[in-house]
Amino acid sequence: WKIKTDPSHCESVVKIIETNPNELINTPLKGHATSIGTSNNNPVDQMNWHQLKLAVSECIDCPLHQTRKNTVFGVGDEKADWLFVGEGPGAREDEIGEPFVGQAGKLLGQMLAAIQLKRNDGVYIANIVKCRPPNNRNPASTEVNACEPYLRRQIKLIAPKLIIALGKVAAENLLGRSDSLGSLRGKVHYYSDIPLVVTYHPAYLLRALPEKAQAWKDLCFAKALMQSLAK
Ligand code: URA
Ligand code: SF4
Repeated sequence: WKIKTDPSHCESVVKIIETNPNELINTPLKGHATSIGTSNNNPVDQMNWHQLKLAVSECIDCPLHQTRKNTVFGVGDEKADWLFVGEGPGAREDEIGEPFVGQAGKLLGQMLAAIQLKRNDGVYIANIVKCRPPNNRNPASTEVNACEPYLRRQIKLIAPKLIIALGKVAAENLLGRSDSLGSLRGKVHYYSDIPLVVTYHPAYLLRALPEKAQAWKDLCFAKALMQSLAK
């Protein structure tokens, strides 16, 4: 992962964000963002970190519990400004119980470094589902729905300034829309009232090396957006 540093591009993004933010804002779909942020008397909505971690470690709410070795709760700074959300654990993550520790995780580390971020330092990393789907298949919607309260609660507790959805599964489920990844990139979306930016999943980038340049643009966009949020 060699990054050509092109600060002029980042600066031009900052300019657009500052002068004409509406141009980049994608209107949230009615219903979804609000429904995801509200409680329907689910006890998970009241949990503290300790209770939440325990609940996930013992969870049998969907069939993925039958084949998992370990639940993969999430990792990082519990007060992070940045939240990266992937799809679900792979084989290595299932073994270790930590997200993004395999090949894709290595690339994610390099993606973080490209925008001067470090795992565990102002960054939290989580997944849509906490247990590995067999053979790395996409999680089924029933599995996503069963697991959704945990991520929702994590987001509430972390209160990140910005969410990065890694890949189509994360974007689709956080935004409640199944548009192509290409059409979701380069815009500011919202999860509840938290800005959200979409980029390629690092596992996809490992298979589609030319897209790395596009992913770098997304990261640069996210970094510029974060800078504008911090003002
Ligand atoms: N891919 C993901 O989406 N999440 C992980 O934790 C690892 C690989
Ligand atoms: Fe529970 Fe989520 Fe694991 Fe399903 S994937 S068993 S809902 S923790």
